[in-house]
Amino acid sequence: MNIENEFDFEGENRIVSAAASPEDGQDMDTSLRPKTLDEYIGQDKNKENLKVYIEAAKQRGGALDHVLLFGPPGLGKTTLANIIANEMGVNIHVTSGPAIEKQGDLAALLTNLSKGDVLFIDEIHRLPRQVEEILYPAMEDYALDIIIGNGPSARSLRIDLARFTLIGATTRSGQVVQPLRDRFGIHLKLDLYTPEQLATIVKRSAGILGIEIDESGAYEIASRSRGTPRIANRLLNRTRDFAQVHGNGRITSELASYALERLEIDKLGLDNTDRRMLQVIIQFYHGGPVGLDTLAATIGEEAITLEDVYEPYLMQIGFLSRTQRGRCVTELAYKHLGIPYPASPPQGGSGQIDIFNA
Ligand code: ADE
Repeated sequence: MNIENEFDFEGENRIVSAAASPEDGQDMDTSLRPKTLDEYIGQDKNKENLKVYIEAAKQRGGALDHVLLFGPPGLGKTTLANIIANEMGVNIHVTSGPAIEKQGDLAALLTNLSKGDVLFIDEIHRLPRQVEEILYPAMEDYALDIIIGNGPSARSLRIDLARFTLIGATTRSGQVVQPLRDRFGIHLKLDLYTPEQLATIVKRSAGILGIEIDESGAYEIASRSRGTPRIANRLLNRTRDFAQVHGNGRITSELASYALERLEIDKLGLDNTDRRMLQVIIQFYHGGPVGLDTLAATIGEEAITLEDVYEPYLMQIGFLSRTQRGRCVTELAYKHLGIPYPASPPQGGSGQIDIFNA
């Protein structure tokens, strides 16, 4: 059964999608990006540890160890990679797993690096296997092993590379194969941001963009941004439009509430898509448990998108739990949707999370 039409799932195009969108434009992706660790808000433990690693590498006059960043989309993995390069005072070369199709593509990138440079590979879990193979000696020995020719006359050639830092980013650490994961000396897991941290980010962005906003306006946007700076900055821009056309340009909490209601984003940052996903589990599967693949087929979304984009936040706010038998909607979510919680609740729908599958 595919109920895509009835439920109109919009995937990455929705305004609360954490995926980068072309509409975010230059302002969003460049000028708002912090350039130093001190400007970067949140992720405090990671930030403090990174400061130590960067300082130590600089004192030794060497390259920073390879860094693996993982966490849901929109939390600032690319921003952090740029900050690391900036703090190390080196160049950054940016690419992504799916963009590197052949060994030769990676070889061209690697041989172009100067001493200390950062090579940033986004979505590193999507690197083709045969490309991964030449990455291993590059990361470990700073060498590229190339086979020239084929058959009996084939020869292996070793090319020395500059000592570089690989920064890999992934939304799914489980899909980075163990041998690759093991070659990163620094592993940083990025967490969803608190509303307080997001409010600070919103105020900072408003300052850069010359938007007038008060404390409660910033908090209103922050608390509806699903723990994600990219969404917070996008909602700030849309709210600014409403403030300009329907207000006096200043973003207050009333104005922000009005704008976000117009965008159909509720108090917790859920949009129609989230609400419908929960409703589907309730209506079609009695609140769960329902397997991820079954749910994905019902909704007409990819299982990976459900896992990466929808679930982290719904789980963070305690609306969805993962049990051994599948996904369950919790009592909290029923309450939020205004649907009575059944007298005999679904198995595993109590909000308990199965730590072995979470
Ligand atoms: N813009 C996006 N992410 C940010 C962060 N973590 N700190 C400051 N500004 C940001």
